[in-house]
Amino acid sequence: MCGITGYVGEEEAAPLLYNGLKRMEYRGYDSAGIATISGNQLVVKKDAGKVAEINNYLDFLSMRGKIGIAHTRWATHGGVTKENAHPHVSCKIDVAVIHNGIIENHQQLKEALKADGHIFNSETDTEVIAHLLEKHAEKHKDSKRIVLETVKDLKGSFAFLAIFASDPETLIGARKDAPLAIGITRRGNFIASDILAFIDYTDRVIFLDNREIAVVKQDKVQIYNFAGRPVQKQITQVAWEAKDTSKAEFAHYTTKEIHEQPQTLKAALYQDQDKIKRFVEAVKQSEHVNITACGTSYHAGLVLRNLLARLAKIRSGITLSSEFAHDAELIGPDSLLIGLSQSGETADLLSAVADAKKKGAEVFSILNVVGSTLDRESALSLSINCGPEIGVAATKSFTGQLAIAYLLAFSVVDDMRRLSELRNIWKAVEEVLKQEDKVVDVADKYKDCNDFYFVGRGLHLPIALEGALKLKELAYNHAEGMAGGELKHGTLALIEEGTPVVVLNPEDETYDEMLSNASEMKARGARIIGVSNKPNQIYDEFIEIPKVDKLLYPLIEVIPLQMLAYHAAVLRKKDPDYPRNLAKSVTVK
Ligand code: AGP
Repeated sequence: MCGITGYVGEEEAAPLLYNGLKRMEYRGYDSAGIATISGNQLVVKKDAGKVAEINNYLDFLSMRGKIGIAHTRWATHGGVTKENAHPHVSCKIDVAVIHNGIIENHQQLKEALKADGHIFNSETDTEVIAHLLEKHAEKHKDSKRIVLETVKDLKGSFAFLAIFASDPETLIGARKDAPLAIGITRRGNFIASDILAFIDYTDRVIFLDNREIAVVKQDKVQIYNFAGRPVQKQITQVAWEAKDTSKAEFAHYTTKEIHEQPQTLKAALYQDQDKIKRFVEAVKQSEHVNITACGTSYHAGLVLRNLLARLAKIRSGITLSSEFAHDAELIGPDSLLIGLSQSGETADLLSAVADAKKKGAEVFSILNVVGSTLDRESALSLSINCGPEIGVAATKSFTGQLAIAYLLAFSVVDDMRRLSELRNIWKAVEEVLKQEDKVVDVADKYKDCNDFYFVGRGLHLPIALEGALKLKELAYNHAEGMAGGELKHGTLALIEEGTPVVVLNPEDETYDEMLSNASEMKARGARIIGVSNKPNQIYDEFIEIPKVDKLLYPLIEVIPLQMLAYHAAVLRKKDPDYPRNLAKSVTVK
């Protein structure tokens, strides 16, 4: 969840690292810090707060040295304080460390290190790594060996970077269950948790695998496994470009990403036909198809499950990745597990994938980040190709995942007419985006309501869940998504005068029943916000969407819900790009 980056090369490190921190701030943004080595002196600057604010008084950019590490934090162990911010140093201040992940045995390690005389300055699990490195440095001179000895002591998940005052030309990274990638340039090299940290300087990347360390110098990169044996790696050229990470003319990344959807939908549908064929065949042939994902990606998975059942009569199971360990008894060698993920690094999902592979299942995935751990763990993956998604709330990645779900389901049944409608759906998305003024009115009217309900049936239910999730995470209103038929089983008791209810009601087989639900709620005082291609007097507010094939409505009806959450957040003076307590990529369990 934290962002980590390091550089060694010909250039001054601090400006490159500072830029990387700003690029990675979406991964965690409660504290930040940089350590550099100049001569043989290690200097650390860090504090709680946002990167740019801290820089205003600490002046990261003035730090000297051609090697350094930098961290942006999303707290797991220890409060949000200067002491707990990374980098952490050893007692002698000759080793600095930054870390993403959780060291599960940090308590025991800390006790043992304290008994040996080490003095701790923070409440973090990370600080034990710095002291362990110092301890092993008493016996070993070689930085690589010191790191290899240290990883033997650690339990849990980690990606960490270390620099040593005694070895100012070497940057070392170690990875177990948290991502690390190396960016190669002619004038030096980077290691980071995220390619965005160095995308301004290079698109040539080496992805580390689990249980590997990278020993990086200005002109040399060597990879070893945890046993110390050298590992050969390919350099990958990544497709993202620095311009993809700008906000362009938009106030926030989130609104930029919402507005990019006509283009990103086209990109998602541009797929290698051979891969689609292989995916489709595997789905058709498999005894058991299972789907797993978290959060928004799970909602896309619900749509995929519904489409496979409805169109192809393929029964598939779907499990939240965080529940997979408790609910995947049926997974076995005849199972196909489909994982959906924007980042490809979500810890719960990766653990479900590992579990399924152990049981002999085949793993396929639908993801955005090519080269991510999920990508490398999958026998076949389809990329949604939506470019970097920086807003913490998933928007364009959701519609990208939906597009691929439709592409697969229509291909399974060879529905050429719908495939052609799907390829043109971006035009309807453009139409919906024109409803933004209406959505702003609605957001303004209801923004301070304590509770919102989003109601839909059939294919609209996952979108109701997604609309509620967006409003919760961006605007901090309590919101619930639910099936229309479930209202009378309990939730109707909560509807009172003025309660806003978003009713997803385009014309399909759910239309009449949803109107009845809307009437039931209106009779109890609800204010009905109708999202439909057809107006009705029952709606207090009407957000019009164009008429499209009845199966395709989810792809367009989610757009006003994304805009509603975004504008409610802005009107409530919340930062939509960096919602409190959340991070973009949830790499801890
Ligand atoms: C969505 O807005 C959230 N930020 C979150 O639910 C996200 O979808 C979830 O953490 C899964 O992430 P992934 O798609 O990168 O695996």
